[in-house]
Amino acid sequence: MSKKTKILVTGGTGYIGSHTVVELQEKGYDVVIIDNLSNSGIGVLDRIEKITGIRPEFECFDLTDAGKVENFFSRHSDIKALIHFAASKAVGESVDLPLLYYQNNLSSMLNLLQAIRKYNIPNFVFSSSCTVYGEPDKLPVTEASPVKPATSPYGNTKQIGEEILRDAAKAHSELQLISLRYFNPIGAHDSALIGELPNGVPLNLVPFITQTAIGIREKLLVFGNDYSTPDGSCIRDYIHVVDLAKAHVIAIERLINKQNKHNMETFNLGTGKGVSVLEAIESFEKVSGQKLNYEIVSRRPGDVEQVYADTRFANDELGWKAQLSIDDAMLSAWRWEQSLKK
Ligand code: WQD
Repeated sequence: MSKKTKILVTGGTGYIGSHTVVELQEKGYDVVIIDNLSNSGIGVLDRIEKITGIRPEFECFDLTDAGKVENFFSRHSDIKALIHFAASKAVGESVDLPLLYYQNNLSSMLNLLQAIRKYNIPNFVFSSSCTVYGEPDKLPVTEASPVKPATSPYGNTKQIGEEILRDAAKAHSELQLISLRYFNPIGAHDSALIGELPNGVPLNLVPFITQTAIGIREKLLVFGNDYSTPDGSCIRDYIHVVDLAKAHVIAIERLINKQNKHNMETFNLGTGKGVSVLEAIESFEKVSGQKLNYEIVSRRPGDVEQVYADTRFANDELGWKAQLSIDDAMLSAWRWEQSLKK
């Protein structure tokens, strides 16, 4: 039996991380997770094991601790590639605690990059975000669309993170780097064993919808219907988290198999379809058979009116295309919410 290729997933007990671990394991990879469990629970390992039959190797420590990162790699120099999800990601919180966000998100990445250089592990996939595009001038956004001044320290850590990768790729040709810009990840694994677990009151739309429908929240507030969009509510590109996870496996394989054309590549990961808040609500009501209690209120500061992806580059270069619809995602999110009640 040939030894399995080992992949490191930082933040692997988190929402997108856990779904990616499942897809990697199902593709035959040996996965080791580093997570400090600041925004996820150790129980996710049991659930991943329940889905795939394989319990990922797991180490709990903070990636801002350079000594611990170095020690980890000295014991795992057989890692072939890594996917870096671990980061603080609450937009609002980042406005209140910018220093924590810069410290955590940037020093973690820098520690990892120093370590992979030292241990000759060239392949690094970075979890970035469409937030780098701000309010786009033209839609849909392509990877060449201008990066706009960040509207939050969280978004800025993604932009700075990409700049760090670009400079590192230029200076160190042995590094092989990919940045994946996610649009709006939603939904959950079909097993309803893993999904989005917001800490406290959800900031994102879909968990707030499902928590309202299940009775945890009294009603959903729709932040504005006076935008210049067909129904007045904001438009986003909602991508099923399983489609997103599959794209990470493809990105890793592109690097491992040396199929990348440059040593720093960037891909938009979206569906290419813009969906408004009111259309998202409609989709949820249709698949759940539940009427949602919501009220239109004033706009949320910082929201962009519309952003959705031009996915041709990812479709053509990665041979990846989102397969699942907003209805599939909403149904999986609802099943996940119901499973939490059990
Ligand atoms: C979507 C739409 C809201 C909640 C953020 C981050 C982004 C990424 C995804 C990390 C907007 C509306 C929401 C509610 C509402 N995170 N809404 N009522 O803001 O597009 O993106 O999360 O990578 O970086 O910026 O996602 O789900 O918060 O909002 O009306 O209670 O839903 O106004 O139009 P967003 P969201």
